[in-house]
Amino acid sequence: MEIKKVGVVGAGTMGNGIAQVLAAVGCDVVMRDIKDEFVERGLANIDRFLAKSVEKGKLEASAKKAILGRIKGTTEMGDLAGCDFVVEAVLEVMDLKREVFAKLDEVCRPEVVLATNTSSMSITSIAAATKRPDKVVGMHFFNPVPIMKLCEVIRGHATSDETVAVTTELAQRVGKLTVEVKKDVPGFIVNRILMPLFIEAAWLYETGVASKEDIDKAVKAGLNHPMGPFELMDFTGVDIGHNVINYFHEELNKELKWVMPHCMKDLVKAGKHGRKTGQGWFDYRK
Ligand SMILES: NC(=O)c1ccc[n+]([C@@H]2O[C@H](COP(=O)([O-])OP(=O)(O)OC[C@H]3O[C@@H](n4cnc5c(N)ncnc54)[C@H](O)[C@@H]3O)[C@@H](O)[C@H]2O)c1
Repeated sequence: MEIKKVGVVGAGTMGNGIAQVLAAVGCDVVMRDIKDEFVERGLANIDRFLAKSVEKGKLEASAKKAILGRIKGTTEMGDLAGCDFVVEAVLEVMDLKREVFAKLDEVCRPEVVLATNTSSMSITSIAAATKRPDKVVGMHFFNPVPIMKLCEVIRGHATSDETVAVTTELAQRVGKLTVEVKKDVPGFIVNRILMPLFIEAAWLYETGVASKEDIDKAVKAGLNHPMGPFELMDFTGVDIGHNVINYFHEELNKELKWVMPHCMKDLVKAGKHGRKTGQGWFDYRK
């Protein structure tokens, strides 16, 4: 089925960015939030972003008008009925996401894929609120959506190959680089790696090892990250990081913290030290 009309649930930071990139590649988009003022704010954000692109000469004024013309804002869930694909981007609260998915399951045609932009939560739990768990998938964009290149496509327990393929294709159509997350683990790839960075940065600061400014400076200059952990937390929302860490704490407990992974032990035992050996996680002599 060709995806022509896409529903986006939530018109906040991520929702309006997702709506924008979809409309930019010619999809008709229905963007739903719970109040008119939130819908208006989402549309105004898109307008502002596109206006800057026009100012910079990256976009024609006529293209801006066409993109905006393809996005319909609404507060009615029923308006998503004709959509061929839906992406949810409401708050990072499991009960809310399950409630939204149960409703989407009633409103949308049975063959429609329902994707969640959750940063960390179980796709399987969200899918269980529907009668189509095979058509529920994680589609994790990054902030700001029109700029960040990555989209993680995450399999829930029952997600079908076809659902992964359709979602990957749509993400690539909006210009994203995709990675498949084969198991439904908290935080997927990027946030699983990012949260320990945030935690350790906060601990180093809290225990007086270094100032926030110096920690950011060290990570930028020493690891070549474009932003330091504190700067990045401020940008993406300290509250979101906090929610994700709490969720990891509940879901993962002490499972992985500071225990040497077997694969890493094996690599070192095998003499694949990376540095100087030409073989490590990657075989870079090839
Ligand atoms: N902000 C980020 O950097 C980022 C990055 C990747 C993923 N995410 C994830 O994306 C999702 C949205 O995050 P955000 O930063 O856009 O949040 P946000 O607070 O900016 O926007 C959420 C929007 O959802 C709306 N909403 C709440 N209940 C709704 C409902 N029942 N129907 C429709 N809309 C509803 C809210 O009114 C709000 O406008 C979360 O799951 C978050 O974890 C966020």
